[in-house]
Amino acid sequence: MIFRQLFDQTSGTYSYLLASRPGGEALIIDPVLEKVDRYLQLVKELDLRLVKAVDTHLHADHITGLGALRDRTHCITVMGEQTKADVVSMRLGEGDKLTIEGLALDVVYTPGHTDDSYSFVMPDRVFTGDTLLIRGTGRTDFQNGDPRQQYESIFGRLLKLPDATLVYPAHDYKGDTVSTIGEERAYNPRLQVKSVDEYVDLMNNLKLPNPKMMDVAVPANMKVGLAQEEIARRGWTLSAGEALALLGKPDIALIDLRERRTRAARHHPGLAARALPDVAGEHPFSGGMLHELGKSTSKRLLFYCAFGERSAMAVQAAQDAGLTAACHIEDLDGWKKASGPLAR
Ligand SMILES: [Fe+2]
Repeated sequence: MIFRQLFDQTSGTYSYLLASRPGGEALIIDPVLEKVDRYLQLVKELDLRLVKAVDTHLHADHITGLGALRDRTHCITVMGEQTKADVVSMRLGEGDKLTIEGLALDVVYTPGHTDDSYSFVMPDRVFTGDTLLIRGTGRTDFQNGDPRQQYESIFGRLLKLPDATLVYPAHDYKGDTVSTIGEERAYNPRLQVKSVDEYVDLMNNLKLPNPKMMDVAVPANMKVGLAQEEIARRGWTLSAGEALALLGKPDIALIDLRERRTRAARHHPGLAARALPDVAGEHPFSGGMLHELGKSTSKRLLFYCAFGERSAMAVQAAQDAGLTAACHIEDLDGWKKASGPLAR
């Protein structure tokens, strides 16, 4: 496995680059905007292809690199399903897997620091975000934080991992880089409590100042969505009503870009929608897939997805590949409002 721990000195943030092999797919956890050039340089030097950029939670102390990485690599942006961010391409929930070629991380919901905090577990290590830090725990006094939930996330979930599991947090301000579950259970001062109430008391009396960047970072991180206006300005975006008028026309191929889980759980515009096998939910905008699609049909491609971001990326990629008639449906909410046909 290729594994790199990267540090942003200004915010004390650790970001993690993972891949299973040189030449293969990579993902990055908790990237920082100011470091995006550095990450992409490293991705290139290691001969990797960045396909997913993931935030463990909505950060208050730095601006996420998710949007910039997506704009520059077409990677998929990923956060938990509780996120307040406007648009991410993939939303994960408890029990899901975060996958790239050759790697699968277990997705564990660990709220408490924020209500959208997740940890990602591999056989030998865990990425704990700000839920569990080295000899500390993430503050619980804003962003819907809850010390009671955090106690459960730490004691009920993370400390149940084997003692030797390596702990890689999203931050450290002392220069420590890694710990283990056993070490934290024994020596983390916040975890030396006898009850959940004692932990709640401890967390409620920390009296910490707000992070310096908070007023800037939180609003910025809630608005990471692709610059969809540009795609719309070029006439590549159809409203639900416009799409509805095209449905059933013989020269339209409707392409469902939603990940499998969403597809199975929710209604879709139905009719001739064609899901993309296998690549759906992974990285549908590269590897010749769109080219193949373009060759396989003479129809106009009409993409749609759950939030309108993935489909906007597909349109951009299709247009780049010379499929100049490709367009996408703005979003599915609008579809329902326009009384578009729905099918299970
Ligand atoms: Fe945080």
